[in-house]
Amino acid sequence: MKLKVLKQASLPDQLTAELEKRYDVYEYAALSEEAFADLAGQFTVMITNGEAVVTRQLIASLPSLELIAVFGVGYDGVDVAAAADHHVAVSHTPGVLTDDVADLAMGLMLATSRQIVSAQKFIEAGSWHQGGYPWTHKVSGARVGIVGMGRIGQAIAQRCEGFAMHIAYSDSKVIPGLNYTRIEDIASLAAESDFLMICTPGSAKNQALIDGRVLAALGEKGILINISRGSVVDEPALINAIEQGTIAGAGLDVFSREPDVPQALLQRANVVVTPHMASATWSTREAMSRLMLENVLGWASNKRLVTPIPELDA
Ligand code: DGY
Repeated sequence: MKLKVLKQASLPDQLTAELEKRYDVYEYAALSEEAFADLAGQFTVMITNGEAVVTRQLIASLPSLELIAVFGVGYDGVDVAAAADHHVAVSHTPGVLTDDVADLAMGLMLATSRQIVSAQKFIEAGSWHQGGYPWTHKVSGARVGIVGMGRIGQAIAQRCEGFAMHIAYSDSKVIPGLNYTRIEDIASLAAESDFLMICTPGSAKNQALIDGRVLAALGEKGILINISRGSVVDEPALINAIEQGTIAGAGLDVFSREPDVPQALLQRANVVVTPHMASATWSTREAMSRLMLENVLGWASNKRLVTPIPELDA
């Protein structure tokens, strides 16, 4: 009998098609309450994405569930404690998206400090005829503070080296072999940074880690870049800092209630926003699809995962 797979969030069509070739895949959103109740005991695998929320209640309602396979490196939406309590394994797709996320972080840093989006609007509005665009801020040689020095933080640091930037970081661990200054306290790191790059994963512990105190320390010449999760930044405090001019700007790929982006962050020369697209290139999304498929196939054939989440890596 074919394995029954519950597709709980949107995934690339090709990945879904590959899974459908092998398994019976059911779209969660398309199931009526009765259909879900009939099938709930038969699902062994749930497939979802990095932005979706997988609650304890949902996990508990699937008594045969063995695996939650996440399309994405971040899995903060999954109640990992509930998965552990119900002996459900969780896989994600780390590594293959590191370059893309680091590239977009650099793009946001350049676009925000050089106001590239606003400069384009300036030309489109015909304003160049009245004079040049106002001066902006230099990136090369500036100080960057990286919050979270994992794979993505380190890939950003490598790129910043190419811009001759002064690099410091905050991480709960000292990372061996890194020649950058470690400043454990994030507000102290912010005070020493022209750009504060948020690369630490979303989690309950990291909720609103970047708060008013950190933003005040970043100061009126500092720019915040967030390619991690919206939840890591206290968004009302960020809006306040932008509105009051107590930071110089922000480049944001993630928000606390996606796809809603607060109006206060839009139409500003010093704020550049993108729709949570850091890993969304063709080649990376294909690589993520392959890795997720390998995890599901590995689990189905011998209960082995290629990339289990670290907390549940037995
Ligand atoms: C990730 O991989 O976590 C990206 O943010 C997409 O969810």
